[in-house]
Amino acid sequence: MSTKTTFSSKIGLIAATVGSAVGLGNVWRFPSEAQGNGGAAFLVVYIGCVFLLGVPVMLAEFSLGRAGGSDAVGSFKNLTPHKKWWIIGIVALIASYLILSFYMVVTGWTLEYMWHSITGSLYDGITGAAGSPAVNQQFTEKMHQMTSTAISPLIWTYIALIANLVILLRGVQKGIEKMANILMPALFVVLIIFCCMSLTLPHAGEGVLFFLDPDFSKINATVVIDALGQAFFSLSLGMGILVTYASYYPKDTMLTRTAVTVSSLDFLVSFMMGLIIFPAIKSFGLDGDSAAFQGTTLIFVTLPEVFHSIGATQFWSILFFFLLFVAALTSTISIAEVSIAFIHERLNLSRTKACLYVIIPVFFTSAVCSLSLGSLMWLKVGSMSVFDFLDTLTTDLLLPVSAIFICVYVGWILPKDFIKKELTNYGKFSSWMAPFVQFLIKYICPVLIALVLISKLIDTISK
Ligand code: PHE
Repeated sequence: MSTKTTFSSKIGLIAATVGSAVGLGNVWRFPSEAQGNGGAAFLVVYIGCVFLLGVPVMLAEFSLGRAGGSDAVGSFKNLTPHKKWWIIGIVALIASYLILSFYMVVTGWTLEYMWHSITGSLYDGITGAAGSPAVNQQFTEKMHQMTSTAISPLIWTYIALIANLVILLRGVQKGIEKMANILMPALFVVLIIFCCMSLTLPHAGEGVLFFLDPDFSKINATVVIDALGQAFFSLSLGMGILVTYASYYPKDTMLTRTAVTVSSLDFLVSFMMGLIIFPAIKSFGLDGDSAAFQGTTLIFVTLPEVFHSIGATQFWSILFFFLLFVAALTSTISIAEVSIAFIHERLNLSRTKACLYVIIPVFFTSAVCSLSLGSLMWLKVGSMSVFDFLDTLTTDLLLPVSAIFICVYVGWILPKDFIKKELTNYGKFSSWMAPFVQFLIKYICPVLIALVLISKLIDTISK
């Protein structure tokens, strides 16, 4: 048997895993969700979801990957040969491939915005007073041009794809790990610079209060369900990513410590994004309409409005879209790696071939996603664009389904002491958390994730 590739250092494996977790979800979903759902009260619920449910599921995936020692499908096959449990891996594999198709499009937009920040054309011809409806209108039009026309978003999606390919072709250590080792520290430095800028703007304190003012009356079942969904998406659970990455973890990796570190850093990034976004928005009086700080509008309209209003517009704009691109790139790399590892290990093809077989079809699928937002508007699934459909299908259905089955598999099917062995590195040290984690994986996580799944399905169908 060939010797299995591993990450070469502890820092590298943490950087790569954090790189997968930190993505667009931290920027355009978390801050507005927290602000709209009770501020600090939401944070308490969210932190609960991350550490009581997210970390155990993460540990289940880590254990599966490291013990199985193979890709998202092969790990199941190695642990339970002659059984059909590998189908869970197939669901995760499909989910990850579909996510890659639309996530790559957004990654392209971040590059496109970075480029137009560098040339200055993003801010050319914008006239009107800061915060005025006229300026908002102009940036909204620019967003439509840059995301919904036929050619330019597609070209940028393809550039993002090629960047992915170049890194992935270099392999696990020289490609994925090295990239993470450079880009993740850069991401944190940029975040800190932004925090310093934003928190020293006039009225920054009001912005922080606007973000965090605790309102426990807003916490209800829907909010808890949303928090759990966001935590799972943000931690990249249920898509085979962590199983695949953990198969590259050396045998002496402390899984519990890794999971807690990754989850804490992912939360820290989300929290810092809130500290950046709300003081800036408040300072320029852009907080009138909550639509202004959600999703694409937040990133591609409201924040450019902020940069337009402060000095050194281009500098901040370039820096921000660089940050976003880094966050997105390290995530797309991890998503693509699920399929690459699968093809490389299951079909016994060289890594180069596996990379090409995975990335080349994405040129086509991402084009469909991109065009479905503009020139191929008629390309709909029900009432949704292909882009939105894939987003909903993967995050609201496939991701929780595979997470539930991973819990069932690890909690009920594998030997009773599986988790304990993995968390203690086969008895090398003791772990007070092991029985607790085992209990959560077996009884609590699957039930709560199922509740999230059902409520989201009801929600989607009733729309
Ligand atoms: N965790 C990433 C984020 O927060 C999203 C992601 C989803 C990454 C799926 C990989 C796979 O944006």
